[in-house]
Amino acid sequence: MFTSKLVNVVVSKRAFSSSAANAAKVAVLGAAGGIGQPLSLLLKHNELISHLSLFDIVNTPGVAADISHINTASKVTGYVPENDGLKLALTDADVIVIPAGVPRKPGMSRDDLFNTNAGIVRDLATAAAQYAPNAFLAVISNPVNSTVAIVSEVFKKFGIYDPRRIFGVTTLDIVRASRFVSELKGTNPKDEKITVVGGHSGVTIIPLLSQSGHTFTDEELKALTHRIQFGGDEVVKAKAGTGSATLSMAYAANRFTGSLLRAIVKGEKGVIEPSYVKSDLFKSDGIEYFASNVELSSEGVGKVHSLGKLSAYEKELLSAALPELKKNITKGADFANN
Ligand code: NAI
Repeated sequence: MFTSKLVNVVVSKRAFSSSAANAAKVAVLGAAGGIGQPLSLLLKHNELISHLSLFDIVNTPGVAADISHINTASKVTGYVPENDGLKLALTDADVIVIPAGVPRKPGMSRDDLFNTNAGIVRDLATAAAQYAPNAFLAVISNPVNSTVAIVSEVFKKFGIYDPRRIFGVTTLDIVRASRFVSELKGTNPKDEKITVVGGHSGVTIIPLLSQSGHTFTDEELKALTHRIQFGGDEVVKAKAGTGSATLSMAYAANRFTGSLLRAIVKGEKGVIEPSYVKSDLFKSDGIEYFASNVELSSEGVGKVHSLGKLSAYEKELLSAALPELKKNITKGADFANN
């Protein structure tokens, strides 16, 4: 029987030679987790990926070996920290997706995860700055409102900060919103384009239902808004202490990564994905990052769309969101700088 002493092994070879110009190396950090595994599985189907590089503190060689048997062209490699695993996982990466960290348990807010996840994200961002300074980076780890600020501050310290390359993944809020609206209106969720802006936690999530093309009673509007803001809690509660959204999140992160790859690898125009990015929309309120519809470009963030016309109710939601968002951003930036 063949046994390998290497911890970090290349478990499958690329079957054809594709240049970096038409396919990308994508690194998933936290790849053995609840989100990381199904996300990696979905990414294995993406023909714009030539190399799927999976890193976690445990179990990644097994996950990589398993996924590598799927008969799509990309190479799959799995790494753990030993033997320079993180460096190998990141070197030459074009896109880095980070779902590393602990998820919520019932009764916890996303901010309750800060103490554990802030350090994890800071350390992974530090490695990314050293080994893949030109990569696009998508942060899934919560609290996203703060972790994007942490990555940005780390990159500033290394002198490689390009705000067009850093994204907080809020796609799940949009996925949920379109599903919930379609349930109420009896429509196909794929046709529902609901704009959700702000941040990615509780009251900072602002669905702009007045722009949905539907009319709602006040009661429906309040119930729907609450469900979109706190949809994650439904999953946390149903999973009863075993975690938060993983499968719907993997779907959402795959959608986001796929859109980003279409823009940066194929140069496709007009690809719009809502995400939490450096934004001037509320700069005058001292808010550095904000989620809104973002047109992606070969440079990453292309055009940050403004919010459009808001209803009186949405203006109220925005007023409640801004102070919380500001607090979350400051907390992340302070952590990275102290
Ligand atoms: P999980 O606990 O199932 O998986 C996390 C993985 O990260 C584990 O495999 C763990 O070994 C790994 N990990 C821990 N420290 C690491 C390090 N230093 N380097 C690399 N890997 C490391 O958690 P799950 O459910 O996958 O959630 C991950 C994160 O995603 C959580 O912070 C959660 O709150 C967040 N999340 C974000 C959402 C969003 O919409 N942005 C939605 C759902 C979850």
